[in-house]
This record gives sequence, structure tokens and C-alpha cells, in this order.
Amino acid sequence: MLIDGHGRTVNYLRISVTERCNFRCQYCMPEKPFSWVPKENLLTFEELFLFVKVAIDGGVTKIRLTGGEPLLREDLDKFIKMISDYKPDIDLALTTNAYLLPEAAQRLKDAGLKRLNISLDSLKADVAAKIAGKDVLPQVLKGIEKALEVGLKVKINMVPLKGINDGEILDILEYCKARNIKVRFIEYMENRHADQALKGMHGREILEKVKERHTIHALGREGASPSFNYALEDGTEFGLIDPHKHDFCESCNRIRLTAEGNLIPCLYFDEAMSIAESVKKGDIHGAANVLAQVLKDKPKENRWSEENPNEEKEISSRAFYET
Ligand code: GTP
Ligand code: 5AD
Ligand code: SF4
Repeated sequence: MLIDGHGRTVNYLRISVTERCNFRCQYCMPEKPFSWVPKENLLTFEELFLFVKVAIDGGVTKIRLTGGEPLLREDLDKFIKMISDYKPDIDLALTTNAYLLPEAAQRLKDAGLKRLNISLDSLKADVAAKIAGKDVLPQVLKGIEKALEVGLKVKINMVPLKGINDGEILDILEYCKARNIKVRFIEYMENRHADQALKGMHGREILEKVKERHTIHALGREGASPSFNYALEDGTEFGLIDPHKHDFCESCNRIRLTAEGNLIPCLYFDEAMSIAESVKKGDIHGAANVLAQVLKDKPKENRWSEENPNEEKEISSRAFYET
């Protein structure tokens, strides 16, 4: 088991396989970043896999591949297969914008992927285009249908933004209910890369919207997940991810690895340690030592709550698109 310096069990590894993205979501990266990490600095899948083995052998039971947009990384299915072959019962998931899914879904499923979390912020083509920076909706909807068709488990992530898609909470809920998919509504997390004019909806406001049409009852937090779950009158479940509350730090079970090999102990933490040198040399012990150090240093809670308990301000200088 991997235990951090505060006694928490860490069993969830998120790997950002690329920081690049084919969308320019207003809340994430409305502008193309000044520069991307040069290709030669990316770890190969073999190098990432060496760390994956260290993590799994240590006790990681859940791996999520993220980006940027992870499907932009060539041969992602081969990496999925490497992980799945090593530990077939691992909870292996991917977070994606679904644009490339119509073509990729079957290959991902065949490689051993189990679950997908997909961003769907609007069911209106013009609104979806305004948020993502280009016309994406037909392709995204096709991607969701294809994922369901090939038997992947799907969850939807929606970030409600005032004056943009806040009128669509009930519609997205209906869309998901009809397909037996769980939706999680996410409070917009302020960050310096986003469009600074954006206003997110508070968790309380999101729930008020749902209550306009439904009676709901609280189910509670699902283990160490940042999502707090609710059920509608007919049992349909949905979730609320309310990072401004940050009451999930005490059960935090995750660490993050970037495509360059930086191991990050917390989403809101700017310092990282690199495993790049170790994995490039095939040095399993070196990689395990870096992991042990990062676990020892994992903060108790995000620095936002430590330093400014009551203040709403920028949460992190870290780019969300890498986590
Ligand atoms: P499940 O395995 O389905 O529970 O996925 P997940 O919620 O861990 O992953 P996903 O990539 O779908 O993330 C959903 C939202 O949760 C995103 O907005 C993330 O930014 C946010 N999130 C993920 N991890 C953390 C975390 O450690 N802290 C905070 N505050 N938010 C997080
Ligand atoms: N605030 C809230 N959610 C965000 N996401 C990306 N950036 C932000 C942000 N600034 C969400 C996306 C995606 C999930 C992984 O994170 O909608 O579904
Ligand atoms: Fe890309 Fe996801 Fe960021 Fe949108 S939220 S720009 S799809 S990484």
C-alpha cells in the first residue's frame, strides 16, 4: 500500500499523456499556450509504463489517462494495452473531450479501457462552439454514442457558466438520464489561463436549478471522489464537484504524473519531482524513491484553503489542462 505523510492511502494515479488539446475551452485554455512542451521532452510510453509498474506494484488500483486531450497522443491504445495486460483488473479510465472518439472508441475498448469521462457543456451547437472555440457538438455527440455502443462506461462532466450554458443544466441532466449515464456538474475553478471574464455557478445554485424540476436527495461522497452524489426521485444519480468547498482533501487518494515525468502530489501544488531521469535509465528503484518522497511531501490540504480560508481567489498557477 502507498501511504502518504498524513496517513492517507494513495491508490489513484492520473497520467497526463499530453498537454496539447484540439479544443480551446474558455475555462481551460482559450488561447494556445505560448509554447508546448517540446516533443523530445515527452516520456515514451515504455518510460511511462516503467513508472506505472512501480505504482501498481506499490498499490495503485485506479489509473486515469488525461491531457490536454489524451486521444491526440498517437498509439494511446498501445499504452492502454500495456497497462491492462499488466493488471487486467485495474480500474482503467480516460478523460476526453470525445472529438476523436467516433473513430477511437472500439480500439480503446479492445485495448482494455473500461471507463470514459467526457466533457459535454452544451447541447446547442452554437453554445458548444462558443465554449470550445470551434464547432464540436456533432462530433462529440457521435463520440458519446459510439462509446456507449462499444460497451464503455461513460460519465459526463459539465461546467455551468453564467450567461453561457447555465440554462442547460436540466437539459444535460435529461440527456444523461435518457442514456443511463451519470453527469457531474463541476464548479468552475478560477485559474490564470482561463478567460478572466467567466463566472461559474456555485454548487448551491446548480442544485437550485435541478430542484426546479426534480426532488433530490443526497447520497454522499463516493469514497475519495471529489464528486458529491445525489439521486432524483426515480433513482437517477448525478454528482456535484465543488472544489471551492475542498472538504475532500482529507480523503485524497491521488497523485499525478505529467507527460514530461513530473510527479505532482496535489492539483493545487506547484512543486513537483521528476521521475524522467530514473525511467530513462530503466532505474526502478530510483523511480520508487521519487514516488516515496512525493508521497511523504503530499500536502494535507490545498494551499488555497491553508493560506486564504475564506477568500475566493485564483486557485493555482498550474495549468488545469495538464492535470
Ligand atoms: P472518477 O474516476 O470517475 O471519479 O473521475 P474523476 O472525477 O477523478 O476525474 P475527471 O477527470 O472526470 O475529473 C472531474 C473533475 O474533478 C475535473 O473538473 C477535475 O478538475 C476535478 N478534479 C479531479 N481531481 C481533483 C482533485 O484532486 N482536486 C480537485 N479539487 N478537483 C479535482
Ligand atoms: N474549472 C472546472 N472544470 C474544469 N475542467 C477543465 N478546466 C476546468 C476549470 N477551470 C473540467 C473539464 C473536464 C474535466 C476533466 O475538467 O470540463 O471535463
Ligand atoms: Fe481541452 Fe479539456 Fe481543456 Fe477543453 S477542458 S481545452 S477539452 S483539455
